[in-house]
Amino acid sequence: MSLIKLINLPPLGDERGSLVSLESNKSIPFDIKRVYYIFGTKSGVARGFHAHKKLKQVAVCVTGKCRMTLDDGIQRKEEWLDSATKGILIEDMIWREMHDFSDDCVLLVLASEHYDESDYIRNYDEFLKGVNNV
Ligand code: TYD
Repeated sequence: MSLIKLINLPPLGDERGSLVSLESNKSIPFDIKRVYYIFGTKSGVARGFHAHKKLKQVAVCVTGKCRMTLDDGIQRKEEWLDSATKGILIEDMIWREMHDFSDDCVLLVLASEHYDESDYIRNYDEFLKGVNNV
């Protein structure tokens, strides 16, 4: 299965401009329990560097851009999030890093679970052990 799972979020445009609607179990393939957004990221800062045991997320840059790196323990792939109509699905047990945030980047994240620090794997070696069931 492909590591990079893009979700097309078609804009509902009219002469006034654009609107994107995100709905649980429609364009977003889970029940949305939490929404957060990352903005004002300082130049040169990279974020993420963790995986989740259970959580699934969809991320979309509603303004600006950043480079998303995903790693399933076997392969590592990158995707520029550079459009308000381009979502990326991040499944459970996927290591993610976000790099090269533009100054104006607002990264919107929809999450399948409430915040739970115990769901995080913040150590890459521990992540690899989890992927390999060691
Ligand atoms: P973290 O997930 O480490 O951010 P990133 O992966 O983007 O680098 O979260 C940063 C801090 O914010 C961390 O202390 C946990 C806290 N946090 C919450 O309290 N609730 C949330 O929903 C999220 C995503 C983070």
